[in-house]
Amino acid sequence: MASNSQIQTGEFSGEFSTEEQRGLYRAIFSRRDIRTFKTDPIPADALARIIRAAHHGPSVGFMQPWDFIMVQDTEIRQKVKDLFDRERQAASTFFDEPRRSHYLSLKLEGILESPVNVCVTCDPTRAEVVLGRNSIQETDLYSTCCAIQNLWLAARAEGIGVGWVSILKQPQLRQILGVPHHVIPVAYLCLGYPVEFPDVPVLQTAGWRDRMELEGLVHFDGWQDQPGSHQSADGIWSDFKEALSGSSGTSRS
Ligand SMILES: Cc1cc2nc3c(=O)[nH]c(=O)nc-3n(C[C@H](O)[C@H](O)[C@H](O)COP(=O)(O)O)c2cc1C
Repeated sequence: MASNSQIQTGEFSGEFSTEEQRGLYRAIFSRRDIRTFKTDPIPADALARIIRAAHHGPSVGFMQPWDFIMVQDTEIRQKVKDLFDRERQAASTFFDEPRRSHYLSLKLEGILESPVNVCVTCDPTRAEVVLGRNSIQETDLYSTCCAIQNLWLAARAEGIGVGWVSILKQPQLRQILGVPHHVIPVAYLCLGYPVEFPDVPVLQTAGWRDRMELEGLVHFDGWQDQPGSHQSADGIWSDFKEALSGSSGTSRS
């Protein structure tokens, strides 16, 4: 099993043991977006491991466009919460009743309850020449999201919940946190010990939206082929299709 010093230095080698493989999949399948937190503080060493995991995400041309703004100050968090409240009200007008009331009944943040907030930003100017970014400009944003997912999974492995709050206007968030104009605040995250890690996404339990069937999202040899309609899907891909339908693994979600 990985030791804390290995996690600190990133010095891992060799294959995963079965136990380690299971641990990774467990983190992936039991990760949840968390909006209800206990007030217990996060130990500094655990928080450091989580942020280090984020920093080891992949990035286009290895540009590492991210920064991490660690937020604890109550006044700052209150300003972010006020910003969220305004945005949430504005967003609700896009829905007709009864969807509007349903939307407003959902708890979509834990900004003040969680002990730590982290804003993950993307600096598109981080590297003079970014190898591989010529064709798709947004690859710096994609890279930042990879770092965020690492953070989310590492937190889950530490028993710490993460809630992504995106119902925030970027210019105002930038102003509250003093983020330079050219830097993009990609994610505002709430971190803390959750009251629980629900088995299924809260939005699913609340009847907002269900997880889609994976089989309907996998195409063979091009988008135009509906799953199951292509000859080769019954040849080369038949074992894969069978494995896919039997691998829902986490049938709970
Ligand atoms: C880019 C992004 C933005 C999100 N913004 C919010 C948000 O503002 N409020 C919220 O409650 N959840 C937010 N979420 C969490 C999603 O609602 C959640 O991931 C989804 O419902 C699936 O649930 P799970 O993460 O627990 O599996 C966001 C997730 C992503 C990836």
